[in-house]
Amino acid sequence: MALKTIIEPFKIKMVEPITMSTEAERKKFLKDAHLNTFLLDSDQVIIDMLTDSGTSAMSASQWAGIIDGDESYAGSRSWKRMEKVVKELTGMEYVLPTHQGRAAERIIYTHLGGKGKTFISNTHFDTTRANIEFSGADAIDIPIEEGKNPKQYHPFKGNMDIKQLEENILRLGAENVGAVILTITNNSGGGQPVSMENARQVGEVCKKHGVLYLQDMCRIAENAYFVHHREKAYADVDYKSIAQEMMSFADGAVMSAKKDALVNMGGFLSLRDEKIANECKNLLIITEGFTTYGGLSGRDMEAIAIGLDEVFDADYLHYRIRSTEYLGNKLHEMGIPLMLPIGGHAVYIDAKEMYPHIPVDQYPGQTLVSELYHVGGVRSVEIGSVMFGRYDDKGKLIPSPMELVRLAIPRRVYTQSHIEYVIEVFGEVQKRIKDTKGVKITYEPAFLRHFTAHFESL
Ligand code: F0G
Repeated sequence: MALKTIIEPFKIKMVEPITMSTEAERKKFLKDAHLNTFLLDSDQVIIDMLTDSGTSAMSASQWAGIIDGDESYAGSRSWKRMEKVVKELTGMEYVLPTHQGRAAERIIYTHLGGKGKTFISNTHFDTTRANIEFSGADAIDIPIEEGKNPKQYHPFKGNMDIKQLEENILRLGAENVGAVILTITNNSGGGQPVSMENARQVGEVCKKHGVLYLQDMCRIAENAYFVHHREKAYADVDYKSIAQEMMSFADGAVMSAKKDALVNMGGFLSLRDEKIANECKNLLIITEGFTTYGGLSGRDMEAIAIGLDEVFDADYLHYRIRSTEYLGNKLHEMGIPLMLPIGGHAVYIDAKEMYPHIPVDQYPGQTLVSELYHVGGVRSVEIGSVMFGRYDDKGKLIPSPMELVRLAIPRRVYTQSHIEYVIEVFGEVQKRIKDTKGVKITYEPAFLRHFTAHFESL
């Protein structure tokens, strides 16, 4: 008999209070923050779904590891532990510790990039694209067609279009391709998984043309869960072996440990090629630190070593993915329009469809973000025209193709009753849809406006 209720496969040993607030208080907090949830204090938030990055709760073992951290400048015991775990997982000989994912990205893309180079990905995450473009290179995204349609079901919507990959390499010339990057799971595409078959095929094309193949592995364990449950040949293979096989196709990997290593800070770069690794180590020493700690304390490396092992626990992964799916499915049943199927770390709401009476230049996504906070103190993030919109010569908004709101779920932090609460908040927000008005921007900086822009309700 399989029982249906999802329970957390852990007990709570230490608690962090949530500051509760009333609707009237939140109205004031939101007004003072100019309707921008990035400008709220965390104490003003009840359920924080801004990001799943660096927000995980560590286990008792990880905290014990923190005490055991070896802070030696060179050859730290904690480094040896982290190096061993990473090598075993990636199968790659060279590991460079960094303070977070984008530091690893900056190092590898500074080395591989530059004017005239092009990088090809299923979808470049923002920081990946930014590091590539900052080096002077170009970045192109080629997700499969199904990945671009929020409503269409596909078991592996994070896959890369293999035909387009080959066409692009031939068009650009293999020597001009900086690298091919497979983002696993595909965050910008909705946390959608990548199949083993696709990861293998990308490897075959790269090998054939002599192009370097990198994987962004920050959610590799969550991806392994989907492979196990959706790809027939892997139904009997355990999660860690799936991840290991997937990484065996790649020449290198970039990791933000703030996701699937279950820590609050950290990252690394893994490589097979000694020459590239040595060049990258020089860059590492200039800005991150010596090769046996990079940008990390000994205790951070200890926690990463333990977290990277814990994350493959079958009960944990089952709870993690089921809980995200539960939230998504409940909202779907209530008639909230969202991206389907539900991905691994987040639920994406289609705000344009939820508020059909609010035009894109009145920012339906930002409106929903405000509503969720106002009604229930739930903090989310707009991924739409506030984040990606541009203006034409006449100052008219060129909107983003989609107006989404992301509810990212921190790992091991919230319980099922917190999830039930979020569902109830959506119910209240839904009742007010017809009377909800859009917002206008009253201040915006020239660059990355979503972080600091000010809004007013219309
Ligand atoms: N790659 C992917 C796929 C990511 O999702 C992120 C971060 C990074 C790289 C960069 O890692 O933050 O450690 O420097 N994503 C966070 C998010 C910020 O909210 O999705 P980092």
